[in-house]
Amino acid sequence: MTSGRLLAIETSCDETAVAVVERGRRIHADVIASQVALHAATGGIVPEVAARAHVRWMIPVLEEACRRAGADGLAGIEAIAVTEGPGLAGSLLVGITLARTLAWLHDLPLVPVNHHEGHLYAAWLLDPDEPEHAEPALPAIGLVVSGGHTFLVRIRDHLDYVRLGGTIDDAAGEAFDKVGRLLGLPYPGGPAIAAAAQSATRRDRRFPRAWLGESDDFSFSGLKTAARRSVAEASGVDPDRGEPDASKLPPDVVAELAWAFQDAVVEVLATKTVRAAQRHGARSIVMGGGVAANQALRDRIAGGAAALGIPLVVPRPGLCTDNAAMIGAAGWRRYLAGVRAGPDLDARPSLRLAA
Ligand code: KG4
Ligand code: ZN
Repeated sequence: MTSGRLLAIETSCDETAVAVVERGRRIHADVIASQVALHAATGGIVPEVAARAHVRWMIPVLEEACRRAGADGLAGIEAIAVTEGPGLAGSLLVGITLARTLAWLHDLPLVPVNHHEGHLYAAWLLDPDEPEHAEPALPAIGLVVSGGHTFLVRIRDHLDYVRLGGTIDDAAGEAFDKVGRLLGLPYPGGPAIAAAAQSATRRDRRFPRAWLGESDDFSFSGLKTAARRSVAEASGVDPDRGEPDASKLPPDVVAELAWAFQDAVVEVLATKTVRAAQRHGARSIVMGGGVAANQALRDRIAGGAAALGIPLVVPRPGLCTDNAAMIGAAGWRRYLAGVRAGPDLDARPSLRLAA
């Protein structure tokens, strides 16, 4: 009997990550070196800086993951899964080069994985000591909400997606990060806004929602503009003339604006996701990507799903943000389906999940 263990590598953005996952579900090791502190200084990711940090951390992270999984020298590993895209070209190449080298050296199959597919398959993962529970039922509706992407798909069957819609301007996480900066909150904006919103005592301000009719598309740029005007006004600056100055905002106003912004993003994301689930007769909703860590969003979609009599399956917050275990989960499905890459596997920075 084979081990069913995949070694998974993820370096598409600013986390250097290696995991060992069994049969696409059970995590044996999940190691992440985060560059958040590195990029906080510049308020965002600088691609060259990110790629150099991957080079620095790739081997130590690999060694630690193998040690934790008892897979020293890759003992018991059946295949190597790696993110081929989308992402930053230089960052992707670091993980791909390691994966290609290990596959060649140990004569193991090499399985290329789409990063977004990983975010969806994170819903299948089980922590090392977590009791076994049912997999998300298919067909499902999948929502990916990350720093770079926001879209809805139908998951008709494993590895079979139909894109329903996506953002026509900013990704949800990008909007969180930009409004976080406007409010003078630390990078990344998502967790900081969520924390500020939780402390808000005034919860009656309403920012505009972009419904875009009945479509499954999203737009967050108008909301960002509304937030900018409100920050300017609250800091005593004419929004048509000057730049907003967050340093003049009292903490309760920051909290109020953070709540109003989050409420608008969450309402639109949740309404469209639940509506799509109903329209397409989904048996479950799965959600992934950094913004899926947001508790208000989780609660709202879970409530809508419950009203339809279906579950929302969303990983714990640490598996919503970038990690390699999710690449191991999606990689297993691809491995079973016979998807393989040759030693010439290259980065695909603009890879999409479905047409
Ligand atoms: O999936 P991810 O780790 O990286 C990308 O592939 O982009 O997502 C990072 C994004 C950032 O924009 C961050 O602000 C957002 O996820 N994020 C959150 C929360 N935690 C992370 N947004 C809202 N609420 C959170 N709790
Ligand atoms: Zn991601």
